[in-house]
Amino acid sequence: MPKNIVVITGSPRKNGNSFAMTDAFIDAAKEKGHNVVRFDSAFKNVKGCMDCETCFSTGKACTYDDDFNLIAPEILKSDVIVFTMPVYWYSMPGQIKNVIDRIFSFVVGEKNIEGKKCFLITCCEEEDPTVIDGVRIPIERMCKLNKWEMTGKVLIPGVLKIRDIDKTDGCEQAASLAVKI
Ligand SMILES: Cc1cc2nc3c(=O)[nH]c(=O)nc-3n(C[C@H](O)[C@H](O)[C@H](O)COP(=O)(O)O)c2cc1C
Repeated sequence: MPKNIVVITGSPRKNGNSFAMTDAFIDAAKEKGHNVVRFDSAFKNVKGCMDCETCFSTGKACTYDDDFNLIAPEILKSDVIVFTMPVYWYSMPGQIKNVIDRIFSFVVGEKNIEGKKCFLITCCEEEDPTVIDGVRIPIERMCKLNKWEMTGKVLIPGVLKIRDIDKTDGCEQAASLAVKI
């Protein structure tokens, strides 16, 4: 049964490590016949949440009309959401944080987003795997609040430069998430 998958990326490096893992996941998911919509946050115009709490009151997810309103309908109808990003300063990159903050609109707008599967793909320079906690923990807690199932994680420390990911099994791990869809 083909599923609708939304992949939201956070890196501005098109040939970077998280994009390489993202591509591996998407290729594997498409091979299995799933539908994939990709949203590269770093190349979109998505501002931070204004907390006006007028979500969905004007016929669209957000009253402030930017590229979030393009991905919002796809998130609503998705079965699976995948977040992919590097660690920036022990946290997530600002570009994807804005998108994630705007997911608040479904809560305020009382939209039923329960029951989705969620995957996380992330990486960082330092070898210490706890550096990734600043990405992993907020995504896991968001899943819990939204009643999403955290179905699979690929957490790769020790990658700095473009293509460093090739020295790890990150892309293989990302591709293998597709069997859990
Ligand atoms: C602004 C910025 C902040 C970063 N902060 C961290 C950090 O706190 N810890 C870390 O281990 N790596 C940090 N890095 C390194 C990236 O996580 C690493 O280079 C990663 O492989 C980049 O992934 P990408 O190629 O998908 O963009 C930072 C990189 C940038 C550009």
